Amino acid sequence: MYKRQTISSEEIARQRNICSEIFQQINASRAHPLALVDTYGCQQNEADSEKIRGYLSEMGYGFTQDEYEADVIVVNTCAVREHAEMRVLGNVGALNHTKKAKPEQIIAVCGCMVQQEHMTEKIKKSYPIVDLVFGPHELWRFPELLQSVMTRHKRIFATEKADGAVTEGIPLKRDGSVKAWLSIMYGCNNFCTYCIVPYVRGRERSRLPEDILAEARQLVAAGYKDITLLGQNVNSYGKDLDNGVDFADLIRMVDDIPGDFLIRFMTSHPKDATEKLFRTMAECQKCAHQLHLPVQAGSDRILKAMNRHYDRAKYLAQVKLARQYMPDLVLTTDIIVGFPGETDEEFEETITLCEEVRYDAMFTFIYSKRVGTPAASMPDPYSREDKQKHFDRLTEVANRISAEKHAAYIGTKQRVLIDGETGHEEYNLSARTNGGRLVHLKGDLSLVGSFRDVTITGGNTWALYGSLEEENA
Ligand code: SAH
Ligand code: SF4
Ligand code: F3S
Repeated sequence: MYKRQTISSEEIARQRNICSEIFQQINASRAHPLALVDTYGCQQNEADSEKIRGYLSEMGYGFTQDEYEADVIVVNTCAVREHAEMRVLGNVGALNHTKKAKPEQIIAVCGCMVQQEHMTEKIKKSYPIVDLVFGPHELWRFPELLQSVMTRHKRIFATEKADGAVTEGIPLKRDGSVKAWLSIMYGCNNFCTYCIVPYVRGRERSRLPEDILAEARQLVAAGYKDITLLGQNVNSYGKDLDNGVDFADLIRMVDDIPGDFLIRFMTSHPKDATEKLFRTMAECQKCAHQLHLPVQAGSDRILKAMNRHYDRAKYLAQVKLARQYMPDLVLTTDIIVGFPGETDEEFEETITLCEEVRYDAMFTFIYSKRVGTPAASMPDPYSREDKQKHFDRLTEVANRISAEKHAAYIGTKQRVLIDGETGHEEYNLSARTNGGRLVHLKGDLSLVGSFRDVTITGGNTWALYGSLEEENA
């Protein structure tokens, strides 16, 4: 049994001391070095990149998007599908040019992809430009690793197998000032048979409620308006703690923080979504009525082969219950098409499930074989073309339903959070409804970061269009 481990505050203090040492060297040399952090994959990885930027910022690095300008490049990788890995490898390969132009450039590759032995080997052999490789479990000691590369001038690989630990006190440099990610737990224990995440991210481990609440209070005080609680399966939050606090309790505690902000969360695993969670969402004023509840497939045989621990009937019952508590619930999902052995008939069950649930949006993927997972050795007789046909059909269904759902908003009033600029002249602002649907608006830039009432004037598969109430008055 995994026992929750933590990295001591002394260890983190030591890392931050290294940041100060590097800062002093940089200061003494009057240099203004720049770093580029390139992130692939999910929100967890985005949150990890904020820690890497936090450390780099403490070392005195500024940030750039230009590979030729950067003194340090960190590529934070994803391993969830082959496509993600190919993109990473392609882009790391292209850094040959920048390293040639700037030989002292330090190139680091970190994240989920390099927590797989065969990938680390590949980088060791075929990507000599890479100076530093570290897995998700070593992120907390990035300063020490980077300093070793700088002083010892040799390649460093830090990707030991580990179950993972909880770390507090790593500095964070967040992107933007309206929306924030807040990790509440790390790792995954579910071992869905297709998925690499439990192998690369280690066992499920929760942060203490007091640490999460302290960070949430800081975010609210700093003016953040949209806080997303993150975990691979937030519904199992707290199972490794002995304080009796579960995920619904945690939502209530964050909701109790005074201020005008929204709470979102992802991802919920249907096997442990509870009535208590839906009731809490409905009762907590600040909790968005938004639920990402990945179903993955509509056929019971496939769900079993995926090791998902629920069947179609249980999933549908949950959706019904969630909607009883929140009739305005925005519901989204993930679906895998072409799991090994999925027949035409089984795929049809995914289609009928989607028609029945009518998701606001669906994230659809073609099954990708992952080294070392149980599904990788299951017979997979169907061709890529067969799978592509299914995928295209599912996308059509998903797009049609999203467009129909968005059309139903036209003429309604919605309270939205204006969260950024679009760069387009006609609709220069982007906003999100309480349920997280994207709304394009025209208005003054000073509105970014505020909640406003809008009338929805149009919609398509991907977005809504609206006009600010004030302008209609
Ligand atoms: N923890 C989340 C999902 C994380 S991965 C959950 O369980 O819901 C995000 C999505 O990628 C998954 O929901 C799944 O739909 C998809 N995915 C994961 N492994 C995959 C694979 N091997 N091939 C294709 N899609 C995959
Ligand atoms: Fe992967 Fe399943 Fe864990 Fe999600 S719950 S990260 S799909 S193993
Ligand atoms: Fe990818 Fe790792 Fe997230 S594999 S999806 S970045 S947890």
